[in-house]
Amino acid sequence: MDEQILKIEKRNIFSKSWHLFCSTDQISNPGDYKTMMINNQPVIIIKDKNSSINAFYNVCQHRGCVLLDDDGNAKSLICGYHGWAYDLNGNLKATRGFDKQKIEIENFSLKPVEHHVWMNLIFVKLQNEHHDIKKTLAKIEKIISPIRFDQYSYHSRVSYKINCNWKIYMDNYLEGFHIPLVHPKLNDAINYKSYKTETFKNFSLQWCHIKSQSSPYKKSSSNQKAFYFTLFPNILLNIAPGRLQTNIIEPINASSCNVHFDYYFDHIEPNRISKDINFSEEIQNEDIDICERIQAGLESNGFDSGILSKEYEIGVSHFQDYIENKINNG
Ligand code: FES
Ligand SMILES: [Fe+2]
Repeated sequence: MDEQILKIEKRNIFSKSWHLFCSTDQISNPGDYKTMMINNQPVIIIKDKNSSINAFYNVCQHRGCVLLDDDGNAKSLICGYHGWAYDLNGNLKATRGFDKQKIEIENFSLKPVEHHVWMNLIFVKLQNEHHDIKKTLAKIEKIISPIRFDQYSYHSRVSYKINCNWKIYMDNYLEGFHIPLVHPKLNDAINYKSYKTETFKNFSLQWCHIKSQSSPYKKSSSNQKAFYFTLFPNILLNIAPGRLQTNIIEPINASSCNVHFDYYFDHIEPNRISKDINFSEEIQNEDIDICERIQAGLESNGFDSGILSKEYEIGVSHFQDYIENKINNG
């Protein structure tokens, strides 16, 4: 788990993958924008005057200054360095210090970033890559039907910095084998015997039945299931009745990562929402503790390579095979 491997992962995996950016809910009005660093690349998503969504590298074409920070609303994108200005479609409009007639203005538009919107979630990718996220999302849509997130509202983000390699967090998420020991409350809320893992190309699914009385989720007579999707390499969708929680796992360095939880709900019911968020927080703290213990264990001289159960840890080996293949073959 050295920095050299992370460099290869960034080059072979993260620079070519689809990334979950935000929801359309978070840029609801013309001019609303949100910025983010994706694999060390500054990206901006902005709604134009006709409410179309545009994604660009958040970089001024004069001398390369990062344009905007955080999120907000803008009528035009003005660079704080020398004052060049772009419209909401990335066209250069004001060229302070330069005669517009004398430069080829169309060569200085903001550089577009490919994006795709699925059930209000906006995904972006920076380079051509190997898999088509539309196919993956269409399969997921079929599996979870009739659930749809189009009408869900974005609620909030909770972020965690964890002292472990990002893949330790992924491995831990990818099996329910540890639930009875590590998460007693979650174990009470689900039917552990029903827990299943299914693997697909570029993603996997774990699902189980929920015990509606002891779970914090919406009580409904049908579809009392939890779905845990992993979209390789680093997007998780946690789906339970009436709610979606997305997780993004961002490596910081070889031994730490950030994990962002974004919550979406079908109705804003404060009581149910706070129960849900507190429940997730408790489980997350249990997982953080385990992940940091694994980091310490893997760094010690007392461990070599271990073994994975073919019955209970197939999601882990499926992910590890994907990573190994990308590291070796790009
Ligand atoms: S770098 Fe943006 S105006 Fe100069
Ligand atoms: Fe866990």
